[in-house]
Amino acid sequence: MGGSEREMLRRTFTEDAELYDQVRPGYPPELFADLDELAGTGAGCRVLEIGCGTGQATVPLAGRGCSIVAVELGAEMAAVARRNLRRFPLADVVTSAFEDWPPPDLPFDVVVSATAFHWVDPAVRLVKSAAVLRPGGVLATVGTHHIAGGTEDFFPESQRCYERFDPATPPGLRLQPSAEIPFDTAELEGSELFGPAVFRRYEWEEWYSSARYLRLLRTYSNHRALPRDALAGLLACLKSLIDERYGGRIAKRYMTELRVTPRT
Ligand SMILES: C[S@@+](CC[C@H](N)C(=O)[O-])C[C@H]1O[C@@H](n2cnc3c(N)ncnc32)[C@H](O)[C@@H]1O
Repeated sequence: MGGSEREMLRRTFTEDAELYDQVRPGYPPELFADLDELAGTGAGCRVLEIGCGTGQATVPLAGRGCSIVAVELGAEMAAVARRNLRRFPLADVVTSAFEDWPPPDLPFDVVVSATAFHWVDPAVRLVKSAAVLRPGGVLATVGTHHIAGGTEDFFPESQRCYERFDPATPPGLRLQPSAEIPFDTAELEGSELFGPAVFRRYEWEEWYSSARYLRLLRTYSNHRALPRDALAGLLACLKSLIDERYGGRIAKRYMTELRVTPRT
């Protein structure tokens, strides 16, 4: 993805922050237990979060007693995050692109970014994360993958709708099993700023009615960027498929990948 496409797509989430807050899932509890073990999150820990959204990872981290500065590009996303975090006085949400944000003098113990690090300029994200961490501090990124499983036949069948309404869809696209998805090592291999990464993976499923599934799709940047008629056609096609062939509900399988790497 080029820089201008990334900048355009990353601004779509905040267009409907309430919808994002209602339908985007959070993360498995095991991930936060692993963050405690690998990154030392907990009471007294100073965390910087990049791209907090409406607080999907921020709220559980704040609940562990971390003090958090969360830098969020979208003003509406940041406003909902502040509402979700209002019972945590140690959590502060700043509206800014991470690239433009002026860091405080006091360094952080942990930089966290959940389903957001890939939206930050690649020329900035590792360098600036390293710069704001104390020596021995860690960068923890969380990736979200849509994997094979759940209602198995639905996802290949849904490609008919995508091929009809979304010209960017590669023909014959299929979801991969987790085991075929490479670990996210490429960017770190060329970096002298961070040491070897530890990875943890979590697989889980969620059931969606057709209505809730369409609401979820409306939060994805590539769906939001479709022309209005194409999006309406795509969603109607998927709704018919779920309602007529799958009894009105489908299961979607997710793989969440945690990557923790120490600042050198
Ligand atoms: C896919 S959402 C992830 C939100 C949340 N962390 C989650 O786990 O659901 C990506 C978020 O990163 C924010 N974002 C994108 N680029 C950013 C940047 N350069 N600096 C700060 N936030 C950014 C977007 O506004 C959006 O809220």
